[in-house]
Amino acid sequence: MEAQPKPEILLAPGALDAALRADVRAGLTATPKTLPPKWFYDDRGSALFDRITRLEEYYPTRRERAILVERAPEIATLTGARTLVELGAGSGEKTRLLLDALPLDTYVPVDVSGEFLADAASKIAADYPALTVRPVVADLEEHLAEVPGGPAELVAFLGGTIGNMVPRERRGFLAAVRSLVGEDGAFLLGADLVKDPARLVRAYDDAEGVTAAFNRNVLAVINKRLGADFRPEEFTHVAVWNAAEEWIEMRLRARSAQTVRIAALDLTVEFAEGEEMRTEISAKFRPSGLKEELTAAGFGIRALWTDPDGDFSLTLAVPAAG
Ligand code: AVJ
Repeated sequence: MEAQPKPEILLAPGALDAALRADVRAGLTATPKTLPPKWFYDDRGSALFDRITRLEEYYPTRRERAILVERAPEIATLTGARTLVELGAGSGEKTRLLLDALPLDTYVPVDVSGEFLADAASKIAADYPALTVRPVVADLEEHLAEVPGGPAELVAFLGGTIGNMVPRERRGFLAAVRSLVGEDGAFLLGADLVKDPARLVRAYDDAEGVTAAFNRNVLAVINKRLGADFRPEEFTHVAVWNAAEEWIEMRLRARSAQTVRIAALDLTVEFAEGEEMRTEISAKFRPSGLKEELTAAGFGIRALWTDPDGDFSLTLAVPAAG
């Protein structure tokens, strides 16, 4: 029996807790109020997101998988990758398409959630006994430079999560990825594309209300971790297309005027009736914009693939010559 891969932990003890406190204090005292999407994902939030990926309206996961199925052999020949570093390692379903296609000796899944990561990594280790699995617990905004790599490494950031960042954050993140990718390495980026706003809004406001539950879950997370008394059902889920920024915004709108106490922060917050708090942006891209941002970060574009309907993109980039 293969030993369970033991995660390497780059997060300082208490760092996540401190980040949650700082984010909630800053976000709830700002005008307008905001909360970062990073805090959706406790066990319940992760389970809800998993359900979202299987909703009829939520096309990105299926589209990205279709591109991976079609292009994995090309990714293997173009990169010859022997190390796969996966940023924000998901449940592993899409990862397996890469693990099956690439001649890898090492897989480095990187995620902020230690438990989730240990579980996903041990399943992969059990199914790929010849593969060295080195899980790393890290905050992608903080620790990219310390993530271990290997020769001929492919760094993958899938799912369209880059859409959670505003342009300035993307610039910093892509520059950090560029430093992480060695001269013989490559970067594989999944990004959702601009399309009919009605379809975009449906993908973030499904008929079953799974996304609404996911959105409200951030309030339950704050209740549990910071002893707050949010009544999640007193907030309405809102998803709107911001045409100027080309991103979907998720918001929570207070159904009534209310006062919320966040005990751990010794903070009391007032919501006016109808007040909206932004909880996520999910930026949508154009191929030209993706190429520009990657080029500005020091990458050259090897390939930009989409599914047949042009809904989602996978870009393979390599360090630019010179
Ligand atoms: C996990 C960030 C890619 O933006 O589409 C799904 C999260 N939010 N439905 C996305 C999400 C609402 C998702 N990402």
